[in-house]
Amino acid sequence: MATERGYDTVLVVDFGAQYAQLIARRVREAHVYSEIVPRTMPVAEMLAKEPKAIIFSGGPSSVYAEGAPTIDPAIYDAGVPILGICYGGQLMARDLGGEVRHTGSGEYGRTALTVEVGAATTLFSDLPAEQETWMSHGDSIVAAPPGFHVTATTPGTPAAAFEHPERSLYGVQFHPEVKHSPFGQDLLKHFLYTGAGCRPTWTNTSIIEQQVEAIRAQVGDAHVICGLSGGVDSAVAAALVHKAIGDQLTCVFVDTGLLRQNEATQVEETFRAQFHIDLVHVKAADRFLGALEGVTEPEAKRKIIGELFIRTFEEAARDLHDAKFLVQGTLYPDIVESGGGENAVIKSHHNVGGLPDDMEFELVEPLRQLFKDEVRAVGEELGLPEDIVWRQPFPGPGLAVRIIGEITPERVQILQDADAVVIEEIKRAGLYREIWQSFAVLPAVRTVGVMGDDRTYAYPLIVRAVTSDDAMTADWARIPYDVLERIASRVINEVPGINRVAYDITSKPPGTIEWE
Ligand code: XMP
Repeated sequence: MATERGYDTVLVVDFGAQYAQLIARRVREAHVYSEIVPRTMPVAEMLAKEPKAIIFSGGPSSVYAEGAPTIDPAIYDAGVPILGICYGGQLMARDLGGEVRHTGSGEYGRTALTVEVGAATTLFSDLPAEQETWMSHGDSIVAAPPGFHVTATTPGTPAAAFEHPERSLYGVQFHPEVKHSPFGQDLLKHFLYTGAGCRPTWTNTSIIEQQVEAIRAQVGDAHVICGLSGGVDSAVAAALVHKAIGDQLTCVFVDTGLLRQNEATQVEETFRAQFHIDLVHVKAADRFLGALEGVTEPEAKRKIIGELFIRTFEEAARDLHDAKFLVQGTLYPDIVESGGGENAVIKSHHNVGGLPDDMEFELVEPLRQLFKDEVRAVGEELGLPEDIVWRQPFPGPGLAVRIIGEITPERVQILQDADAVVIEEIKRAGLYREIWQSFAVLPAVRTVGVMGDDRTYAYPLIVRAVTSDDAMTADWARIPYDVLERIASRVINEVPGINRVAYDITSKPPGTIEWE
């Protein structure tokens, strides 16, 4: 059903694989709005969302395993086009009278797929007859349900794709959502546009328009506060809210003195000078460094910073026009990971930007439908500078957890200067976006060195750079030696107080990304 929202909705039914979010992102990349729903959601509730199409995700189990996830078969007769992927495809095959069997020869990894010659196919229209796909399954679909055409096969799966164009039901054994299936995105588009008639209207512009309207409807003429951290989420959220309600918005930026070099200046320049947003810039470095004096224990640092942040934010917010709303940069994965649904409890981040518990605000969450890549695209569209939109993640307690041992103004300065060199060289090498986080750590030991004719006794600097998808696991980045070499020589020459550079080659686990 086309909705008056201006965009169509695709539901991704989550059968418990880690792939549901990826499928949802791929659908969004095809400019169609998608939402993940648990497979236990009653079909009537799914249909109430007026989906234009439904996709069943993969899942970890065999359809014959005890307790294997199922779905109310009423869904097949709802008149909504469905694509079943991997487990979802097997489920559809089994539910509709096809055959899924444990053949003893599963397929894992790259698998050659052959499109059936002469088959009437929506999914593979115009795609190569021989193509590589990515498989991960033990059971195989050996026979498509009655009325379906088999449109592709692989050595281990006689019905690797099957289609019923009249009923708009489609199933595939492989994973079109992963990059290792090079034509997977084309297949998804064929399903979405041709199989289901979805319109590619979910674009940055439509996201912005829709959010602007929603924000206006939610807040009316009330005053709204937004805490800025310097990171991409709060920045994009603020820019969106400002577009919607202009000077009803006040941003509060607590400068703890523990930010990266130039971060505070950039927040000021962007939000005050470029966007003309009413910005309260609380310069609280002395307060934070004072409270941290002599503190060396990592958790103690976090606790002090967290509490002081909330107190400082509260003080700044107290005299702000009786604001009723507070902007939060909650993203869609936070919602999904905390159980999904409209009223899901948001994962409580151990974030310094976290909410004061006893402040009574209603939340405005303009990013709660968006994935991170969409947030970045919207940020660019709104005119935020690249440095903010593409900034690597940064821990709430800031440099405090990268200065091992005592935090003093001098040591903060050393780390900011050295960190700026690391970032600059990583950017210069064109690695900044592909690396998850790259930064410097200042330990509490000193080592001997020699510069000119003089013996030095100064801090070593530890360079940390990791690749990751979600910070849960990470690998040390294979930075080219010449980039490491440039970082080392520049840091030692340009940053007084450092006489040695080491590169951390620990993955996570067993290490963590941060040093404290
Ligand atoms: P670890 O060091 O646990 O970090 O591997 C995982 C991710 O979380 C960030 N991090 C924090 N973020 N408050 C935050 O808001 C914190 O106390 C904190 N500690 C770590 C870290 O930068 C990485 O992205």
